[in-house]
Amino acid sequence: RIAGPCGIVIFGVTGDLSRKKLIPAIYDLANRGLLPPGFALIGFGRRKWGNDEFAEFAKQCAKERSRTKFREDVWERLAEGLRFVTGTFDGDEGFDSLAETLDELGSAGKTAGNIAFYLSIPPDDFPVVCRQLDRTGVAEPGNDSWRRVVIEKPFGHDLDSARELNDVVAAVFPEESVFRIDHYLGKETVQNIMALRFANQLFEPVWNSNYVDHVQITMAEDIGLGGRAGYYDGIGAARDVIQNHLIQLMALVAMEEPINFSAAALREEKIKVLESAALAEPIEDTTARGVYGAGWQGSEKVLGLHEEEGYDPNSTTETYAAITLEVHNRRWGGVPFYLRTGKRLGRRVTEIAVVFARAPHLPFDSTMTEELGSNALVIRVQPDEGVTLRFGSKTPGTTMEVRDVSMDFDYGESFTVDSPEAYERLILDVLLGAPSLFPESREVELSWMLLDPVLDEWASRGRPETYAAGTWGPSSADKMLQRDGRSWRRP
Ligand code: BG6
Repeated sequence: RIAGPCGIVIFGVTGDLSRKKLIPAIYDLANRGLLPPGFALIGFGRRKWGNDEFAEFAKQCAKERSRTKFREDVWERLAEGLRFVTGTFDGDEGFDSLAETLDELGSAGKTAGNIAFYLSIPPDDFPVVCRQLDRTGVAEPGNDSWRRVVIEKPFGHDLDSARELNDVVAAVFPEESVFRIDHYLGKETVQNIMALRFANQLFEPVWNSNYVDHVQITMAEDIGLGGRAGYYDGIGAARDVIQNHLIQLMALVAMEEPINFSAAALREEKIKVLESAALAEPIEDTTARGVYGAGWQGSEKVLGLHEEEGYDPNSTTETYAAITLEVHNRRWGGVPFYLRTGKRLGRRVTEIAVVFARAPHLPFDSTMTEELGSNALVIRVQPDEGVTLRFGSKTPGTTMEVRDVSMDFDYGESFTVDSPEAYERLILDVLLGAPSLFPESREVELSWMLLDPVLDEWASRGRPETYAAGTWGPSSADKMLQRDGRSWRRP
């Protein structure tokens, strides 16, 4: 679907996210013909730029990072709608001229008054920006037009601050106009969890505690913090990734079938499962955290976090976090969900492994099944997008020896079209007013409710255990699963 007449204002337009993801995604949407004629992209920032300088900057971002091929003619058309407004968040002047710019674009018939405000800024700045949008009246839609606000994580620091942020935003924008970005929900492979579960007959009958032993959700990165210390210090892996991306993945894996894919129906099911979820106890045994030390990433020798420039050597922020969740309902009683994430791990990979119980009886000589593990369905979120099913098979030969083999579905092989980038899909959904892939305030609060006790417990324990860069995390993470008689997969 093509978006109707509209425009988007980006706050924090010269920041990392905007340069690497937002502007390139907007260009890609234009290139695919999904933006309306007259579409306006308005950058708001401190720089004393004119429209031309902003256009030059945006062109560079699009050229460097867009997924689709860069085409001058597409760019020219998009560039006609580019505007830059100079201003600071606490000065009235910039917001007054933003209001004028929006009026002009509206009355020139370009945006029809439909505007999305993208807050790609630290949450501490939300209150002042929301107040300014309110003061200048630009948050208020006219007749037959819409105004929406897009907010980036972190949605707060804990439950209390998340509630405060929700209140700040809710004072200016009604909930149906608020789009909270969790870019994992924009990934094709994440949406495919729902297709896999609910478009097939094969998986759902075994998707429960009768057959599933446990679920492992892993989001591993090989990169370190390089330059992001300012954002990351005091936040850490649990707040950065578990609170949002991993808990959302867990909700999609564990929820019941929604009556349809409307936002209301989907959110209802996710909320139900998050309300049934709880941390396994005792927290000190069922969670783990660590911080990367020096080590080898492939053939490159890398520094530990505390030696990196700009990082406080006394910081207690974790770069690895793992937690155990239980879901207290009939489907999942007794099945642990292990969630882990970390920087500077063995390789970049995100996957969901549904690990099945062992067969209750094996009619083989025990020496024949030494290489037989548990059946597993692995949803490969990235980078090798697809699904793997692991099961036992007879090895060729004269004995009845059985070992694990894999059956693979690979996006690249099965489909010839490239998946759109997550931000592309999500920005388009904002412009279309399609909120299904955006968590609502209650989901955010429930995620914090799950995480807060872990963060409190960790805060009382000082510096996390160090793990060598390039490994799979701290030894406490291995112990956490060993205690349950299980082990982490090596993706
Ligand atoms: C972001 C986190 O939400 O996700 C980053 O803040 C992380 O720390 C990033 O690097 C990973 O995203 P992706 O899409 O590359 O897996």
